[in-house]
Amino acid sequence: MTNGSPCPPSRPWWKDAVCYQVWPMSFKDSNADGHGDIQGIISKLDYLKDLGADVVWVSPTYKSPMKDFGYDISDWSDINPAFGTMEDMLQLIEEVHKRGMRILLDLVITHTSDQHPWFLESRTSKVNPKADWYMWENGRPGHHIYNTRTGVDDKVEQPTNWRACFGGSAWYYGEERDQHFLHLFLKEEPDLNWENPVTRKAIYEAAIGFWLDKGIDGFRIDTVNRLSKDVTWQDVPTKLVGPLQSATHVYINGPRSHEFLKEMRQYMDNHPRVQESGQELMLVGELPKTPMDDVMQYVHPDSRELSMVFDFDMVDLAGHDSPDEVKAHETKNLCDGDPSYTLPLFKETIIKVQNLISAGGWGTVFMENHDQCRSIARYATPEPQYYQKAAKLLCLMQTTLSGTEFIYQGQEIGMLDMPLHWDYDDFRDPGAKLYIDEEFESGGPEARENARIGNLKFGRDNGRTPVQWSSGKNAGFSDANEGECWIGVNDNCEAGVNVEDQQADPDSIWHFWKRQVGLRKEYREVFMYGSFECLELDNMKTFTYVKTAVDGLTALVCLNFSNEMQPITAPDDLLNGRSLEFLTGNLGQPLAHEQPLAAWEGHVYLLKAPLHKAVEERLRRFPTDAQLDEAFGKSLNI
Ligand code: GLC
Ligand code: CA
Repeated sequence: MTNGSPCPPSRPWWKDAVCYQVWPMSFKDSNADGHGDIQGIISKLDYLKDLGADVVWVSPTYKSPMKDFGYDISDWSDINPAFGTMEDMLQLIEEVHKRGMRILLDLVITHTSDQHPWFLESRTSKVNPKADWYMWENGRPGHHIYNTRTGVDDKVEQPTNWRACFGGSAWYYGEERDQHFLHLFLKEEPDLNWENPVTRKAIYEAAIGFWLDKGIDGFRIDTVNRLSKDVTWQDVPTKLVGPLQSATHVYINGPRSHEFLKEMRQYMDNHPRVQESGQELMLVGELPKTPMDDVMQYVHPDSRELSMVFDFDMVDLAGHDSPDEVKAHETKNLCDGDPSYTLPLFKETIIKVQNLISAGGWGTVFMENHDQCRSIARYATPEPQYYQKAAKLLCLMQTTLSGTEFIYQGQEIGMLDMPLHWDYDDFRDPGAKLYIDEEFESGGPEARENARIGNLKFGRDNGRTPVQWSSGKNAGFSDANEGECWIGVNDNCEAGVNVEDQQADPDSIWHFWKRQVGLRKEYREVFMYGSFECLELDNMKTFTYVKTAVDGLTALVCLNFSNEMQPITAPDDLLNGRSLEFLTGNLGQPLAHEQPLAAWEGHVYLLKAPLHKAVEERLRRFPTDAQLDEAFGKSLNI
């Protein structure tokens, strides 16, 4: 853990941080094998620092059979050779710290790989020492669930009718025990039994203590609200066609969730390295499908559980993970104009997190990660004439909302989803393949094509194509022979969607992100911490909000989420005699004050109080803005 000057309790260091997520497989390949690696990350740390990142979150590089690209871990305290060695990892931690940044690792402890030695032992019999380290249950007599995924085990009696997140049953049969084990994700990812205190302790030591000893600054905690399950194992009511049903509402936020997290947090707080450094760890957990009051329990400082969460309401909007449980191809994007996904609904998801912060909790600002499609088509527009403006508009929004900022690799150059012609053999995500197989089996070629379209819209490979560093071979991601990268490279790297070209162009999305990150830090009181008020919630075209810092500095953010020109909203009672001073915008400075917003244009204004007579008198004697600033300094920014 890095040592720094102590922060006041209400302002731990991680509130101010700008975080950058690296998904190592696709970030940078250092040895030309077509696979990103730890040395590749080290080679780009100066780049991340230059962009303004304070924290680097590195997705899993642990030992793993890679069925779920590293989220299926077979040894928490070892490194997958495809990514490098333990020495590389220790070097990464050191190099991050040398640059004054901090590092988070992924903590994946809801499940392990089915190749983890604990599971290999657990599956051998009902009586071995680790027999109840995973969630084994008997099938229910007469409770046949036809399972398209399990091959020879079809029609066995399963414990419940739950569907796994990536398709198929959430149970898999283990012959040696004549029992089923629970896997909320892939069948190669058995769920650990958190009910067992011995297992919990072993997890803390192997997955957490080991890395705290190595000096990391915190964790991103995978699927944090799935540790505790309702172990009465009830069937869920039938909503979807077919026997298997989504049961997320039963197995998330289970009855002992908070108890387990508090216990885990205590383990961390008591860790000698944490005690010694006196620094708060940063703990950010994934939190889908959780109402505001419940989110608060996870993040309120008095709960002593997590620092913050990724609230999923925005990424799940009108998607296959929404409460409507639609199929992936029925997922709606904002530009589809569908009533299940309108701008006001989008605003609501933001209001939830902003209110959480005002009420004493804390949250994150994020739109992308390795499980999501890219943000531009989903929340704005992919139309060629608008998408660059749209990318900057989303950046303007993301850098003016309160909370801890997360940028996902490639977001800073406006990376787009995978090409539309991609098909089964191009996809790499096991979830995508399972979904297509399942749809084909149940609905034939038409359903299969729909599933393919669904993946193009919503699939996780969208966020996993290699980072485009240049317009050269493999987009500068790897020196491997062309076509030998683990996943295809998007050819839009040749059309300016790459770091090198954008660094050379001061008008690029990359430069815009860098400037915005700088402004966010400069005006941190208003942008990172300010209170939030949404104006005109029902407006379907513009998103307008007011941010106010504790010292009264107020910003008005006006964002046009449409292809048409829109007026600016600045109500008189808000202005209260103050005037609008343009601070930043994605199309540059407007010619006239309060000029309407062009398509996908956004403006950020500061509200300025009228100047006192005597000050005005003095001001007249200074002809330029620079001189004004020099003479009166920032004190005029009231
Ligand atoms: C999380 C990860 C995802 C993974 C899943 C199972 O949602 O972000 O990539 O597949 O958990 O570990
Ligand atoms: Ca490599």
